[in-house]
Amino acid sequence: MRLPLTIADFEARAAELLEAGPLGYYAGGAGDEITLRDNVDGWRRLAIRPRTLVDCSLIDTRTTLLGRERRHPIVVAPTAFHRLATPDGERATARAAAATDTIFVLSTLATSGCAEVAAACPEGGARWFQLYVFKDRGVSRELVAMAAESGYEALVVTVDMPVLGVRERDLRSGFAVGEATAIPMVERGGGRGRMSMPDVVSLIDPALRWSDIEDLAAESGLPVIVKGVLAPEDARRARECGAAGVVVSNHGGRQLDTVLSGADALPPVAEEVGDEIDVLVDGGVRRGTDVLKALALGARAVLVGRPVLWGLAVGGEEGARRVLEILRGELETALALAGCPRASELDSSWVQRAPWAGSGAGHR
Ligand SMILES: Cc1cc2nc3c(=O)[nH]c(=O)nc-3n(C[C@H](O)[C@H](O)[C@H](O)COP(=O)(O)O)c2cc1C
Repeated sequence: MRLPLTIADFEARAAELLEAGPLGYYAGGAGDEITLRDNVDGWRRLAIRPRTLVDCSLIDTRTTLLGRERRHPIVVAPTAFHRLATPDGERATARAAAATDTIFVLSTLATSGCAEVAAACPEGGARWFQLYVFKDRGVSRELVAMAAESGYEALVVTVDMPVLGVRERDLRSGFAVGEATAIPMVERGGGRGRMSMPDVVSLIDPALRWSDIEDLAAESGLPVIVKGVLAPEDARRARECGAAGVVVSNHGGRQLDTVLSGADALPPVAEEVGDEIDVLVDGGVRRGTDVLKALALGARAVLVGRPVLWGLAVGGEEGARRVLEILRGELETALALAGCPRASELDSSWVQRAPWAGSGAGHR
């Protein structure tokens, strides 16, 4: 299969292939989509300060996450409903991630169960489980137990969806997941038949509190990563509640519009807790240079959402694998050209606010 060259090319091709409803759901954001766009622009507002005459004959992209060494700092973000992009759904994504040594975070809203996804990955890629806490806490406990049994190494607890963001593309298209596409873990939580996102979110507990994070960290038997933190004081609170990490994230611009981009929210969070727990970031990562900038600003890893969905839509498992290979290849090139062959040695001296920031020159 001849696959596109860049993430942007994948995005354009996926937009031709996907039907209007799923395309709007994947691509869209909340409100006026200001944060959606700014997630991408945030990385572009930063310039790289390269050093030269550094031996770059060996490039080392390794990072440490949850105390374990990983070959590179790119992680597949949890995203819902992969069967809308490819018939094999999350099983294809899990295999693509395993083939590229990429951690795969499986969403609670997956169109395959967590055990099924684990079984689809005989070579045993690293997997984390993203948890939405249902109103029925018994179901959440069951999901956590199933994830632990199926070899998921961490719980990524998403905390930025007490209610659904105002997603106007979905409202216009009437997007819902058809009866033919099961969402097994949502069905355990009481979901039935054709479901819109408001139907799904009505099962999620809007009363989730910090004490619940404390309980999960103490009782789940898995390290807990709190996803959806933008303020350093919340990152501190997560640390105090026993979390092993935080994901600086605005949910891909899909929840509250006009919040800070991942790139802008990251530095104060990394400053506050980066020496104590793992800080990860997501939103708008589309190039290896974006990954380099995130690491320079204090992240240990980045999560990538939509690009993987574009990969699945264009080429199934192979497409997703190619997307992950592109990002990793670009990161290696960027590290060499920036004169920092070891990713773990990046620091804030490698980036500065770009002189073109605010001028619109960073836009395509
Ligand atoms: C189509 C779609 C579905 C998503 N579903 C989930 C989800 O089920 N759980 C979750 O924690 N985050 C979900 N997210 C947010 C992603 O995990 C991630 O924060 C975001 O996509 C990162 O931004 P990017 O798409 O620009 O890389 C979803 C994002 C998209 C685009």
